[in-house]
Amino acid sequence: MAYKNKFTSEIQNIISEDEWIIEEDNYDPRENLVYETLFGLASGYMGNRGSHEEGDVRRTLPANYIHGIFDRSEAFQRELCNTPDWNKLKMYYECEQIGIESGKDVKEYVRILDMKKGLVAKHYVSTAYDGRETRIEIIKFLSRKNPRCGAFKVFVTPLNYEGVIEFENIIDGTVTNFIDFPRFRVKHLSTEQVCEFSDFGCYLESNTRDDKTPIGTGTAVEIKDNDGNDRLKSRTFKKFGEIACEFLDADVKQGETIVIEKYANICTGRESDNVKDTVLNDLETFVKKGFDNELEDHIKEYYKLWDMADLQITGDEKMQKALRFNIFHVMSTPNPNDPSTNIGAKLIHGEEYGGHAFWDTELFILPFFNYVFPEVAHNLVEYRYRLLDKARENANKNGYEGAKYPWESADTGDEECPEWTIEPDGTCYRCYVADYEHHVTAAVAYGANRYYKFTKDKEFLDGMGLELIVETGRFWVSRLEYNEQEDRYEITKVTGPDEWHEPVDNNAYTNHLAKWNINQALKYLKYYKENDKVMYNNLLNKIKLDEDELIIWKDKVDKIYIKDKEGLIEQYDGYFNLVDAEIDEWDKNGMPILPKSLEAVKKEDRCILKQADVVMLMFLMEYDYDIDTQRTNFEYYEKRTLHRSSLSPSIHCLMGLRVGDYERAYEYLCRSAYVDMTNNQGNTREGIHAASAGGSWQCVTLGYCGMSVDNNGTLVFNPKLPDNWEKVSYSINWRGSILRILITQDDVIINSDNCNGSFKYIVDGEERIYGGA
Ligand code: BGC
Repeated sequence: MAYKNKFTSEIQNIISEDEWIIEEDNYDPRENLVYETLFGLASGYMGNRGSHEEGDVRRTLPANYIHGIFDRSEAFQRELCNTPDWNKLKMYYECEQIGIESGKDVKEYVRILDMKKGLVAKHYVSTAYDGRETRIEIIKFLSRKNPRCGAFKVFVTPLNYEGVIEFENIIDGTVTNFIDFPRFRVKHLSTEQVCEFSDFGCYLESNTRDDKTPIGTGTAVEIKDNDGNDRLKSRTFKKFGEIACEFLDADVKQGETIVIEKYANICTGRESDNVKDTVLNDLETFVKKGFDNELEDHIKEYYKLWDMADLQITGDEKMQKALRFNIFHVMSTPNPNDPSTNIGAKLIHGEEYGGHAFWDTELFILPFFNYVFPEVAHNLVEYRYRLLDKARENANKNGYEGAKYPWESADTGDEECPEWTIEPDGTCYRCYVADYEHHVTAAVAYGANRYYKFTKDKEFLDGMGLELIVETGRFWVSRLEYNEQEDRYEITKVTGPDEWHEPVDNNAYTNHLAKWNINQALKYLKYYKENDKVMYNNLLNKIKLDEDELIIWKDKVDKIYIKDKEGLIEQYDGYFNLVDAEIDEWDKNGMPILPKSLEAVKKEDRCILKQADVVMLMFLMEYDYDIDTQRTNFEYYEKRTLHRSSLSPSIHCLMGLRVGDYERAYEYLCRSAYVDMTNNQGNTREGIHAASAGGSWQCVTLGYCGMSVDNNGTLVFNPKLPDNWEKVSYSINWRGSILRILITQDDVIINSDNCNGSFKYIVDGEERIYGGA
């Protein structure tokens, strides 16, 4: 790895071994937006994109998002706001900016993401037009120890000149969402205060425009030499409208390195009634503690996270790194202390989808947290429970009963999927996704059920899960339509996971999941009736559910139209009559290309799917289909799926493994795990593909390592490692016991740090006891 030799020893001493490093070894302005996403950091409170601190690049989308800070203003929907940009420090020599794009050229450029320590570091030498050379090195982190703090440290060395170097410490309150998309650009904040901060920094306070939630941002800068001596020559505060700016300068000798540390602290009205005082206080503490001490504590926190979350694949270095990359961003994102926030479809790394939670959370991301960080999983399911009233309102508004979850969910639980969309050319079109894509409600119930199944957190089931599963089941009962001729219940006018065919009648996935949801509700009701009559009666009273209604539920659920149980299953009524052709070409990233014969056929008239639909159904409802049926459907639909949603490849990997198509399974693992590292969907600039990251983790642990929890609640392993994977090791939190799992080509070995009792688990059908005599 070339980067090692480029960094000075200061940084080399900090950064981790190669296997933890993602490298950008050359600056290409066209790729900058992608790297801003890849090198985005998240503290569990906020996310900050990897924009260049020097601020002199043209193609950039600097952003700082904070969990729970949403606003609508002129946007189509409430979106996660871009909050004031604290990640800026401009540098000048004789009024010329020093940076990546401002000089004649840049040499020795390298930037790395150190996943083990949760930091970004870069190095380059900037050459000005008059030949002056300045070496710049920057190291940045968002503190995991104090998640409202972020900081970076700049090492500046004039290599062949000396003189006064000037700096501007900036907090930019002019930020908007969709900075580079004029049609969508919205300013979500109004700046309320721009001022000097005590005598050591500057402060900017904004309010969200709709709710007037205050957001305070404070920064402080110190300039020292390498021995820690103060080198600040002068400091002047300036206010440029909505920009807080401190001018600072220092005398620097040729070959000498000066060190600039920029500290930031952010606080919103969600955490404090007096954001300014909180920021001032916490910023002072941060500066006193110092960059290096905070970094040390931050790194310790990352070590703790990795101690649980790391997954090692011996024999496939590239895949090992990709998995770490996906895990790094997923585990860093959610706020572990805030069950009123969730995880956006692009994590907290970009603006696409407004930071909204989709079914992606329950079906793709939640399994990772269930197994590895169950306390975060609890937050994610609790988030849905907290919005249950809104889901009831949403059902009611649409003429249904029970609870109907929104397709896109922000902080209030309202439907945030826009009714209208504008194409880049300005044409408006009505967006029907929220009107028809109802299957998210079943996914929410599935998530709550799976959380319980894995953790056996009975308190959750009693206090939240039961009510949520019953109310979602109730929605489906009211959503069914009776077809008298066939004497069956149907669901017409819906969109299944495949959004290229909308709306359709009797989408196999939706009908099946609706049935599952109702049955699950009935199952839990029966359990509580028999085992906890008080709880049962309380629930029925609370949600005004009559036992007579349940008789109707039973009648209806048995008559839901389920497409065939065997053979090839039609995705929806009439799908088999569409213009058909199989995919037979793939691009350089292995992504399928639309068959030529279908180019002129409209999306809705051709058989080609956007993403896994029947295949997704088989993946979730494995007990309902025999393996031949699963294979038949995988083979048929796989040849017709373009995977234009990043949700699709991981499911195809998992299903490929299940039906024994190992070659294709591995190809799909690569598409899923490398989606952002190779930008194979072409939109990484808009954020990390959260579902695909969570899905990739599932591919390795649930797929290749064959881990699952069976219907009796027992941990099961049926590993099928590829020949070149010598072993896989990872950890899970199994109902309080930390299990260290090692899967080799011929065995499964479990060790535990803290399990004093014993439990049963099954390996390839054979029962074993951990901790038994
Ligand atoms: C997919 C949905 C997904 C959403 C957010 C869409 O392109 O079709 O299934 O939930 O992206 O990731």
